[in-house]
Amino acid sequence: MAIGFIGGSGIYDALPLENTREVDVETPFGRPAAPPTVGEFGDTGREVVFVPRHGVDHQHSPTTLPYRANIFALKELGVTHVLASNAVGSLREGLPPQTLVLPDQIYDRTKHRDLTFFEEGIVVHQQFAEPYCPELNGILEDAAESATDADVVRGGTYVCIEGPQFSTRAESEFYRTQGWDVVGMTTIPEAKLAREAELAYATIAGVTDYDVWNDDSQVSLAEVLENAAANETAIKETVEAAIEAIPEDHACDCHSALANTINTPDDAIPE
Ligand code: ADE
Repeated sequence: MAIGFIGGSGIYDALPLENTREVDVETPFGRPAAPPTVGEFGDTGREVVFVPRHGVDHQHSPTTLPYRANIFALKELGVTHVLASNAVGSLREGLPPQTLVLPDQIYDRTKHRDLTFFEEGIVVHQQFAEPYCPELNGILEDAAESATDADVVRGGTYVCIEGPQFSTRAESEFYRTQGWDVVGMTTIPEAKLAREAELAYATIAGVTDYDVWNDDSQVSLAEVLENAAANETAIKETVEAAIEAIPEDHACDCHSALANTINTPDDAIPE
């Protein structure tokens, strides 16, 4: 088992890893946002592979960042479980900045992204009713509650917008009327690609701001980055506790997620 960690805004360096090496991976979808760092984690000796989603200088926009290369590189390096983090805006009064939300649903409002690894005549219709791995999500929830001082909220819907602009007030108010909880720009297509790659995948959403439905909110980049930096400690504590908590022999349905898909042609996915 190797565990991947995809760090969102505010998280550009790896966890406390030993015997680290940077791997320059080239994938059929180009290079990942940064060369993955591979190392051993603490007493567990578990192999962990870290990729900063946006690159080390936050140089990739939510639309153009190399989601497929990031996930492909983790898979190629033997990763089976991926823990991610995302900076998000809050759609609810009760979720102030610096709350950690462990979402269990996604509403996709992106428009210009490659959503699949399959192309050139191969079409794979895969189930995605539970977009995050429920088992890994539960492990992250327990880890966040036990290892951090942050307020932790179990479950919630993450509406993923295209960006890079933040939402209009009308959009933000609409999301609230739907009962959605947090808004961000990067969980799609990452969660879809992780499922296609048969990786167990779940995320920690660190709230950085109230979205613009809140009259007092401006959603400035400075505010987002400041709170993202403040969330960094709690997110890393959560990820570290989760790495220790994943059972050595853990396996789940995500690891065989291409079985029973509807494919064109029929034999596109080997048994
Ligand atoms: N990321 C952090 N805050 C956000 C917001 N308010 N909207 C979309 N993405 C975000």
